[in-house]
Amino acid sequence: MALRSVLLGVGSFLPERILTNEELAQSVDTNNEWIIERTGIRQRHIAGKNEKTSDLACAASLKALEASGRTADDIDLVIVATTTPDLTFPATAARVQAALGINKGAAFDLQAVCSGFIFALATADNALVRGQAKCALVIGAETFSRIVDWTDRGTCVLFGDGAGAVVLEAQERDDDRGVISTFLRTDGRMHDLLYVDGGPSETGTIGKVRMVGNAVFRNAVEHISGAMLEACARAGVSLDQVDWFVPHQANQRILDGVARKLDIAVDKVVSTVALHGNTSAASVPLALDVAVRDGRIKPGQLVLMEALGGGLTWGAALVRL
Ligand code: UT7
Repeated sequence: MALRSVLLGVGSFLPERILTNEELAQSVDTNNEWIIERTGIRQRHIAGKNEKTSDLACAASLKALEASGRTADDIDLVIVATTTPDLTFPATAARVQAALGINKGAAFDLQAVCSGFIFALATADNALVRGQAKCALVIGAETFSRIVDWTDRGTCVLFGDGAGAVVLEAQERDDDRGVISTFLRTDGRMHDLLYVDGGPSETGTIGKVRMVGNAVFRNAVEHISGAMLEACARAGVSLDQVDWFVPHQANQRILDGVARKLDIAVDKVVSTVALHGNTSAASVPLALDVAVRDGRIKPGQLVLMEALGGGLTWGAALVRL
């Protein structure tokens, strides 16, 4: 028997407003064909003016709680992975905690940009298996549209808003259900490939996303593949034992490139990039939720989640549902 972090439920939420490629092409020099061919993205959801990251996070969390059979009273750890917090402080997680009526344990934000959910999952797993918490709400939530430069066609076509959440519970088990292995990596030397040109300390502004797209692309294929292999190696599992791959949804060509590199069947890779775009920390739990709810991912299956983002950060998490 060992203490394990079991994933009991997943939920997600997307803002109502959809921004299509055609609509975007009316305000910036791009077109539907280019965006689809180079990224696979057809549309993205955009949060309303008064819709905050914490609102999206709460909506996703309520669905995850419902799916998990647990209530707010059971939760004693809230981690929100986000790059677009409601305010500089306090943590968006503190707002989510209060809004959901959770009144015990800790709540904090985690910043690893698009890899945030993987980092948050690993952090929650560590807390649960050490007995520091019993039931965790792990959320990826973004109003990324707020930090997009809507005049930069190299980035504005890519991103969208949304949230996804999971409930993890510490359970004594004699099987391998739950988080099996995680791998996290940051290489700060690649800071300038993907960053926001503002912040409270350096500029006193919020800033906008800046990216050297093709360099990030190359790093993504290489490091995501490496992270997947590392997470599997740590678990003594081979890639062909994995039932589903749930990657960060940055670009369909990255998903395809990784699948080709590792010789993975594309029908085992969950892709929501066409409909959601890149929702940063929200993209992995959003994609997980879609594939669990449509019946593709079933209880007992082995799922490998992976991501790369600003930092650069990257990582992977192997979970048996
Ligand atoms: O979530 C964090 C991780 N982020 C990512 O993983 C994103 C990684 N990068 C990418 O997905 C791709 O690099 C992009 C989709 C951003 C760009 O695709 P690309 O195939 O790497 O294109 P590129 O940047 O090399 O640009 C090719 C051409 C350029 O024109 P010239 O110089 O060849 O005349 C760009 O100006 O495409 C042009 N271009 C566009 N054209 C129409 C760039 N963006 C657009 C656009 N519409 N939106």
